[in-house]
Amino acid sequence: MPSIITLTLNPAVDKNSQVQQVVAERKLRCEPPVHHPGGGGLNVARAITELGGDVEAYWACGGAIGQLLSQLLDEEHIVHHPLSIDAQTRENMILFERSSEQQYRFGMPGPSLTADEIRTCLDTLLAIEPPPEYLVLSGSLPAGVDEALYARVAEAMPASCRVVLDTSGTPLQRGLETPLFLLKPNMRELGQLAGRPVEDDSQIRNVARSLIDQGKVEVVVTSLGSGGAVLTTAETHRHIRAPTVNIRSKVGAGDSMVAGLVLALSEGKPLADAMRFGVAAGSAAVMTGGTELCRRENTERLFRKME
Ligand SMILES: Nc1ncnc2c1ncn2[C@@H]1O[C@H](COP(=O)(O)OP(=O)(O)OP(=O)(O)O)[C@@H](O)[C@H]1O
Ligand SMILES: [Mg+2]
Repeated sequence: MPSIITLTLNPAVDKNSQVQQVVAERKLRCEPPVHHPGGGGLNVARAITELGGDVEAYWACGGAIGQLLSQLLDEEHIVHHPLSIDAQTRENMILFERSSEQQYRFGMPGPSLTADEIRTCLDTLLAIEPPPEYLVLSGSLPAGVDEALYARVAEAMPASCRVVLDTSGTPLQRGLETPLFLLKPNMRELGQLAGRPVEDDSQIRNVARSLIDQGKVEVVVTSLGSGGAVLTTAETHRHIRAPTVNIRSKVGAGDSMVAGLVLALSEGKPLADAMRFGVAAGSAAVMTGGTELCRRENTERLFRKME
């Protein structure tokens, strides 16, 4: 049994295509689409697998798009468990406009889960034997479900399981209704938690420490994009700079960072080293084009450079 599992309640198939120019009211001739798995927890599982770690992904799977997603995960050799739902898994559209070299990203809301489906999902996680050491809750929640669902999942898990949360908005705020191990906000998300903008290091420290002092979370990792990340615990507060890399696409930087961080922690690495590996994985994700996540070789090279 792996020590890491991820949960994705609002996964997606990302459909990528290209068009010369986006023009309203006209039939646009697009290139043959390429499909990729999407959704926070699935991306974290893909990145951990790429980095050579053991992980199993649990995800809500419905309809024909759910079947396609299952097939895409199989092709990438991801160990995964579809949780069957009635409604159709969503499909997002990513369209590259060649004339402007800009990307248009159309996100669909995703299907809601019934109370029974949520119950089954919780029961499935609880039945994992032995319980995972790490549970990564990542990505948006489908419309219509209890916005405190991440807190409900976390509180149902055995105390030995360290829960990592990476989401935004109300699911992030309400996710903290039960004590968690680690939170990975960016500055905007930390501001959502604080109820005011968070703009500098002292504000990061104040907000993160206040969450820790209230017993809501043990570790706060605030990611700063090209600025790297800040680690805050009850004992430490330190900044880890990101290496300079050639920027191709920032998609998946946050998910790759969570993947590197949790993988290193699950291998027993100290927090400071795990942070560096997470930042290296996030920066490695920026070096790859499109929706591709971090590559192992780049991550390990950046990690060594940062030592
Ligand atoms: N321009 C960049 N150069 C180098 N590293 C970067 C850059 N952008 C992001 N990273 C790396 O990726 C990590 C996470 O990035 P970021 O803070 O943008 O996460 P996020 O806002 O959660 O992103 P996402 O939109 O993927 O959820 C950073 O800590 C850093 O290591
Ligand atoms: Mg993020």
